[in-house]
Amino acid sequence: MKTKKVAVIIGSLRKESFCKMIAKNLAELAPPSLQMETIEIGDLAMFNQDFDDEGNTPAAWTNFREHVAKFDAVLFITPEYNRSVPAVLKNALDVGSRPYGKSIWDGKPGAVVSVSPGGLSAFGANHHLRQSLVFLNIPTMQQPEAYIGNVATLFDASGVLTNENTRGFLQKFMSSFASWVEINAPTSSTGD
Ligand SMILES: Cc1cc2nc3c(=O)[nH]c(=O)nc-3n(C[C@H](O)[C@H](O)[C@H](O)COP(=O)(O)O)c2cc1C
Repeated sequence: MKTKKVAVIIGSLRKESFCKMIAKNLAELAPPSLQMETIEIGDLAMFNQDFDDEGNTPAAWTNFREHVAKFDAVLFITPEYNRSVPAVLKNALDVGSRPYGKSIWDGKPGAVVSVSPGGLSAFGANHHLRQSLVFLNIPTMQQPEAYIGNVATLFDASGVLTNENTRGFLQKFMSSFASWVEINAPTSSTGD
């Protein structure tokens, strides 16, 4: 099976982010057919169409668009801010979706993992994000859904995932995602 490149987009910029901790474990538990790479989104200026229209496209936007375009699939890991996705994640979606007709998202298979210290597991963020992914034509894995709640209880003091049920679930999730990518990814966009 040919290796597929997965862009991991994390909706938190926080140093001690639980989403980053979950992302690290997902990458470690991914089958060898998936090559995971976290994409920086904190340096993307807030979207303003004038920048593109007037030839002042920020270098960070161009780098992001060109880099992510080379990936076969995209995995979103998001916290919930006020029952929706953090602005930094929505901004990354918007930047990648333009200029009109040149979206980097179109047709790339994806999946969503939502993470929260609370018991509702960021369900609202998970499904708000899915609403945008429908429009962006990202075929998004439906099952298994991934709602990681009470996340602060899953790690020990040094940040090691100690909850074996969660570890097993994350491994199953990544195995399902590998199959989803294999079925839905167009021929590698890198051409290699
Ligand atoms: C502006 C803001 C809004 C938040 N709103 C929610 C919310 O709606 N639901 C929720 O479960 N947690 C909410 N939280 C708490 C976050 O889940 C918590 O800060 C979490 O640790 C953020 O993810 P991270 O650890 O990856 O940075 C909010 C946090 C902030 C800063």
